[in-house]
Amino acid sequence: MTAKDEAPGRGPAPVVEIPPEESPRVVYFSSASENTRRFVEKIGIPAARIPLRPKVEGMIRVSRPFVLILPTYGGGSRRRAVPKQVIAFLNDETNRSLIRGVITSGNRNFGADYCIAGPIVAAKCGVPELYRFELLGTSRDVERVRNGIERFFAEGAPGAS
Ligand SMILES: Cc1cc2nc3c(=O)[nH]c(=O)nc-3n(C[C@H](O)[C@H](O)[C@H](O)COP(=O)(O)O)c2cc1C
Repeated sequence: MTAKDEAPGRGPAPVVEIPPEESPRVVYFSSASENTRRFVEKIGIPAARIPLRPKVEGMIRVSRPFVLILPTYGGGSRRRAVPKQVIAFLNDETNRSLIRGVITSGNRNFGADYCIAGPIVAAKCGVPELYRFELLGTSRDVERVRNGIERFFAEGAPGAS
């Protein structure tokens, strides 16, 4: 191995394994503006955050089925709508095999591209798009998502055990 191979930022991100007893029902991504983090906090269901800098912090690998909550970041480009950290998370075969549904946030100012990351992830991973909310979400959004996720796993999301 050469020094070049070991340079920071090269090669795959280190993996942070989350054992089954700690692997939560919600996995989310949130950028520095943290709208999604605040939404997830209000839901009050244990959740794991996809790191902003996976190569520095390590990419998480979950071990139980989960619902993914992510913001849309295309800014008009559908190709870039799913944040690259989320793509890296889903490129891990274990993570991809455990996703059961997707919830997306966005901003209605983006018109036809509002929450477009949701259908993109749903199609790629073959899971249902469960819900959409804008920015921080309303208290009704928080309640609906909380109840929805609890019901989704209680009533048996496909392969949810
Ligand atoms: C650069 C940029 C591009 C965005 N692109 C879209 C978009 O294409 N569609 C959409 O619905 N929202 C878009 N948004 C809005 C974000 O999804 C929204 O602000 C979200 O709440 C951000 O969540 P976060 O603070 O957890 O990262 C964009 C926001 C930014 C800053």
